[in-house]
Amino acid sequence: MDKIVIEGCRPLKGEVAISGAKNAALPLITATLLTSGWHTLHNVPDLRDTRTILALLASLGAKWERQGTTVRINSDKIENFEASYDLVKTMRASVLVLGPLLARLGRARVSLPGGCAIGARPIDLHVQALAKMGADFTLEGGYVDGSVKGRLTGSTVYFDIPTVTGTENILMAAVLAKGTTIIKNAAKEPEIGNLIDMLTAMGARIRGRDTDLLQVEGVKKLRPAEGVTIIADRIETGTYLIALGAAGGEAKITNCDPSLLPSLLEKLRVAGVEIEEGRSWIRVGRTGHLRSIDIKTMPFPGFPTDLQAQIMALMTLSRGLSVITETIFENRFMHVAELRRMGADIRVDGHSAIVNGHGRLLGAPVMATDLRASASLVVAALAAEGTTEISRVYHLDRGYEDLEGKLTRLGAVIRRVKETQ
Ligand code: EPZ
Repeated sequence: MDKIVIEGCRPLKGEVAISGAKNAALPLITATLLTSGWHTLHNVPDLRDTRTILALLASLGAKWERQGTTVRINSDKIENFEASYDLVKTMRASVLVLGPLLARLGRARVSLPGGCAIGARPIDLHVQALAKMGADFTLEGGYVDGSVKGRLTGSTVYFDIPTVTGTENILMAAVLAKGTTIIKNAAKEPEIGNLIDMLTAMGARIRGRDTDLLQVEGVKKLRPAEGVTIIADRIETGTYLIALGAAGGEAKITNCDPSLLPSLLEKLRVAGVEIEEGRSWIRVGRTGHLRSIDIKTMPFPGFPTDLQAQIMALMTLSRGLSVITETIFENRFMHVAELRRMGADIRVDGHSAIVNGHGRLLGAPVMATDLRASASLVVAALAAEGTTEISRVYHLDRGYEDLEGKLTRLGAVIRRVKETQ
């Protein structure tokens, strides 16, 4: 397993281009299962997770090819309907084949995701909603096995929690169902809007984009998506904004969409980070001291849980107390112990972490535990005095395209070394 070594305490300077959104690419890739023909997706990031979902589609019978950031997918021959444990255990989002396979084949067998570093993350809301649409499920050997005779039936489903991939699975099931499906308390993340745009381009009839009430009128057949573009990755954008706030300096972030980060931009300004917004770029810099701020993660458009670990690293560099409350996942503070190794003063009390910022961090050997926790360690390392070694960086490779290259072009001193066994 590789590790990343960062020499910290250097202000960043230059320009960085944001890649397509991982959490849009994953559902849009599985949506190609819904109909035969060649689909074309643009701005698809080349990540461990996108390679995993494409491998999963190939295991189901699809063919795909990549030219640069364009990926073409052909789902003419989908014969297999099983998403195996060895694929799902590495990526929970494999559950996104459940809806499209039931809609296309009337059959789907998906390994339960199992726990992961940030919590139990069950898929009960997905299964309950699909069952209301006529699917029968059995659960054995760690697999959820769903089947439906003929087509799924449109129904009204209500989500206790606005689940992102749950909303995406039901949307993909509903577009080919008989009749109308209403989704109440749907998630409103921008990646869902990107999926709705793709399904609409394929001939689906969906109303309520960007709201928590979605209405889908099922159709018999869809056409392939000719040229749908994945939106900019708002979490990658937020990670670089926070990294600039931590390391200081000034940079221009391009190929991004500031409107996808309403809460973060506001919070960073209050913390003392200078932000100038363009239509598809953000100029960011920090010269003065950081001010401590309180954060509470919420579903979109609230503060994203996927930036909680990164903003916590930033707050360790401010002076004063910050309270960071995680309301989405029950165990998303794995990065606290690692930040403490770098000298951070953080106390966890239930769902909240109280950060007593001292304005400095010290380089140390640390370990990544999950994707966004590892991003917070990179943010901390860029600001820390001395050298930081981050092990288990395969977590980072899941969601950050060319991280070393992008940070090197911003002036960071960062290198990847093969970890001796
Ligand atoms: C999506 O995960 C994202 N992943 C996550 O990003 C993100 O953190 C999360 O949404 C919240 O915004 C993708 O889009 C691929 P949820 P998802 O269903 O859909 C509970 C990253 O770093 N829940 O919205 O799996 C669940 O346990 C990843 O890129 C149930 O109880 O999250 C959690 O507490 C990490 N039962 C809450 O709902 C269910 O059936 C929100 O989960 C489904 C979810």
